[in-house]
Amino acid sequence: MNYPLWSIPGLGGSWAVGLISVIHVFISHFAVGGGIFFAVTEYLALKRSESNDLTLRHNSEMLYAYLRKHSKFFMMVTTVAGAVTGVGIWFSISLVSPDGTASLIQTYSLGWATEYLFFVAEIATVLVYFYTWDKVSKELHLALAQWYAVLSVFTLIIINGILSFMLTPGGWIESKAWYEGFFNPTYWPSLILRLLVMLAIAGMYSLITSARLKASESEDVANFRAYMLKYSSKWFIPVFLIGPIVGFWFFSQVPQAVITNIFTGIQSSGVGNFSILARAIYLSLILSGTVLVFALVGPYLNPRGFSFGSAVAFLVCGLGVTSMSEWSREMLRKPYVIYNYMYSNGIRKADLETINKDSFAAFSKWEDPDNIGVSMFRQQCMICHTTDGYRSMKKLLGERDLEGIKTFLLMMRETDPEKNSYLNIMPPLVGTDKEVEALAEYLITLKPVKLGV
Ligand code: HEC
Repeated sequence: MNYPLWSIPGLGGSWAVGLISVIHVFISHFAVGGGIFFAVTEYLALKRSESNDLTLRHNSEMLYAYLRKHSKFFMMVTTVAGAVTGVGIWFSISLVSPDGTASLIQTYSLGWATEYLFFVAEIATVLVYFYTWDKVSKELHLALAQWYAVLSVFTLIIINGILSFMLTPGGWIESKAWYEGFFNPTYWPSLILRLLVMLAIAGMYSLITSARLKASESEDVANFRAYMLKYSSKWFIPVFLIGPIVGFWFFSQVPQAVITNIFTGIQSSGVGNFSILARAIYLSLILSGTVLVFALVGPYLNPRGFSFGSAVAFLVCGLGVTSMSEWSREMLRKPYVIYNYMYSNGIRKADLETINKDSFAAFSKWEDPDNIGVSMFRQQCMICHTTDGYRSMKKLLGERDLEGIKTFLLMMRETDPEKNSYLNIMPPLVGTDKEVEALAEYLITLKPVKLGV
């Protein structure tokens, strides 16, 4: 509670973060998966160029020409869009969730610094890689691709520690030792799962550039196009075979309370639809399954019939699956931003008692003494609610009158799950009686005025 709040009318801040992040995830996963794709495919091209078999040597030439084109697309997407959305995430999270962001920076300063070194090296390498086609030996060019792949995997190795830390900080909560938070219970399954997904995403993007090859140009190009489409679809196989097992491993490491929350929703209250999380997870699984089946019957079994439009449809589905899984992962740890440590609204679990004793005003540097109710709402609720847009108070307050709202808020102050059934979706309300009263009085003004009949 050391920072002012940035609110986006109608949408709410978390959606802004979500939209930018999903695009970034889709591109950054391509940056890593694509790196491995170049290293492997260029290796194949080099080996084939040394072969005695004429057809293999011809295939090698085509592969080189393809990789050269694909690398331009790759460089543009990852350096321009990847970097812009990456910076966008920092901008948006530091405005929407300043305390959470500050915690992440303070706990992992060295981690972030290392991450940025790898980023810079990664971007430098991809530029050198693209601009040295035909200027250096084939062996050296392949070494650049391999070097890029190593660097980009390292960016994942680091960021994965920080992302998984937020869901399962593990022993860090007690010890505050960075390595316990970094190599936390979901670190390994999440690392492997992301790597597998990255390979599939690399395949998706290469379906796009392969489908752009003009089959009508010659029989030769048509054959190569079919070969490339089939080759790209094989990049889906690892996640298809190993993904489910690793997914299971991932969920086995998530706290039991979180799992229960997914499936039961909040039955005792009016918000049973919170099990929308369960639906999102199912939908994401079904959609991934569908993408994989289509990869098999489409580009794998019938590459000649696979059009550019289908490749784009694949990419859109991929973006859909990515959005849904990242959204679910974020929802899993609600109402925390760092599980069991800091709530989404930036209040630390450990500070609850002090705030209730002293007052929220003493704690928050941004409470306006003339508008306590508004300040309470902005600081404690607006990270998830808007006044009359997404998840609006106007709608959610329902039929409650001032007394009803007060009763609801009193319940929200409870930290015992028996008494407050909203604890697994909303942080407990904190503040003195006077402050809670002021919040209730502000909330009632958000409700539409009912004209008497
Ligand atoms: C971490 C996110 C989060 C925060 C912070 C949060 N809420 Fe909520 N709240 C939710 C979610 C999710 C729902 C369920 C929404 C739905 O059903 O569409 C909800 C539902 C509600 C409801 C409707 C409950 C019902 O059953 O009728 C009210 C009222 C409400 N919140 C008030 C508040 C107030 C007041 C605050 C601040 C003191 C607050 N919330 C803070 C996430 C949050």
